[in-house]
Amino acid sequence: MNVLLIGGGGREHALAWKIAQSSLLDELYIAPGNPGTVRHGRNVQLDLDDPKALRRFLLEKRIRIVVVGPEAPLVDGLHDRIAADPQLKEVTVIGPRAQGARLEGSKDFAKEFMFRHNIPTAAHRTFVKGQLQDALDHLDRVNAPYVIKADGLAAGKGVVITNDKKEAARTLREMLQQGRFGEAGERVVIEQHLKGVECSAFLITDGDSFKMLPAAKDYKRIGRGDTGPNTGGMGAVSPVPFADKDFMQKVHDRIAAPTVRGLKKDGIPYSGFIFMGLMNVHGDPYVIEYNVRLGDPETQAILPRLKSDLLDLFEGIATGTLSERHVDVDDRTTVCIVLAADGYPGEYEKGSVISGADMVRDAYVFQAGTAREGDALTTNGGRVMAVTGMGKDLESAIASAYRSAAVISYADKYMRDDIGHDLVKQPAQRGAFR
Ligand code: AMP
Ligand code: GLY
Repeated sequence: MNVLLIGGGGREHALAWKIAQSSLLDELYIAPGNPGTVRHGRNVQLDLDDPKALRRFLLEKRIRIVVVGPEAPLVDGLHDRIAADPQLKEVTVIGPRAQGARLEGSKDFAKEFMFRHNIPTAAHRTFVKGQLQDALDHLDRVNAPYVIKADGLAAGKGVVITNDKKEAARTLREMLQQGRFGEAGERVVIEQHLKGVECSAFLITDGDSFKMLPAAKDYKRIGRGDTGPNTGGMGAVSPVPFADKDFMQKVHDRIAAPTVRGLKKDGIPYSGFIFMGLMNVHGDPYVIEYNVRLGDPETQAILPRLKSDLLDLFEGIATGTLSERHVDVDDRTTVCIVLAADGYPGEYEKGSVISGADMVRDAYVFQAGTAREGDALTTNGGRVMAVTGMGKDLESAIASAYRSAAVISYADKYMRDDIGHDLVKQPAQRGAFR
């Protein structure tokens, strides 16, 4: 069958790599893809906002499955537009319709959903424009740290956590009164602060049944020891030692199952992935957020561990037979290290020539912010690529990932040198990796 994959980051390179291994695949197209995805399929330029062009492409290329990597097209209703087109009846979209995508697109919607279905999450109150005084009064009734979230998509920047009540009040004013984050901040959620360690769990569903995928830990901060500003993710480890069998059973029973059941009960058809951002609070999982897609860079850590054919799972979604498919997972550990451009998540240079990416032999290299200039591969984004090492245990996976990451070089290369170290009982030797 022919597949169209939407997106162009490291997550999509990993998806393209995995889909290309399927015996069920005929042609894979990636829109827009990146210089890494061309090894696994054909990169195409496609304007997703032009329904005619999209329809023409899907028909002409006889696409059966559309896999949507990022959330924005889903929140925008891409799935709905395809589903509403009688000529595209044969096309299955991996990713929810706009209604289901609100699990990620609206914090308030997600909170109400969890409340309705008894899914453990931090207590919250929602305030809308015009309720600034109520929101400020609420701050007096709760304890620090204050967790304030813009309701809508804000590119990961819509969350403020602070011990300072004045800063919390200022944030509320900025969001509810001064229009910071625009529409996304016209509705604000104030949450109870949860203390614990975070991890990411994933499931795939056809709306009826679901399968758990491997869990991962993401390293969101730019600096060693989880310091400095938040990023899209600087590394990932799978599996997560503290997310043991007992914990993952709780995730399955208390979160994954009621989430899929809840969607069905609410009449929200859902096909695709659900990413459960979790806090492990003394061994009990709480949902911090839902995403309606896979994570980046978690995908680059979990797909190398997935032994099953991903396209077989997608076919299970297309035919409503996911319950009959199997998810087999490699017991080994993966460690993914993101190679960034110095300055990211702030300003950074583009256009440096990258060398060594082809010399990596015993790890996976997934490209993200790269470009092809003639024969040269150059940097073209904040997160340039990800290197995933695999090993029988965490220590050997860390060693493998860093050994391979060291082979790749470009001006302004930056990576965290401590990915996975917090999870090793005896931290590995730290060096200056550049
Ligand atoms: P979100 O965009 O909702 O994932 O929030 C971004 C980050 O803020 C999360 O990854 C957590 O590290 C942190 N966070 C969000 N909500 C809470 C909470 N209720 N308690 C503690 N930390 C939180
Ligand atoms: N790595 C976090 C995310 O993909 O949202």
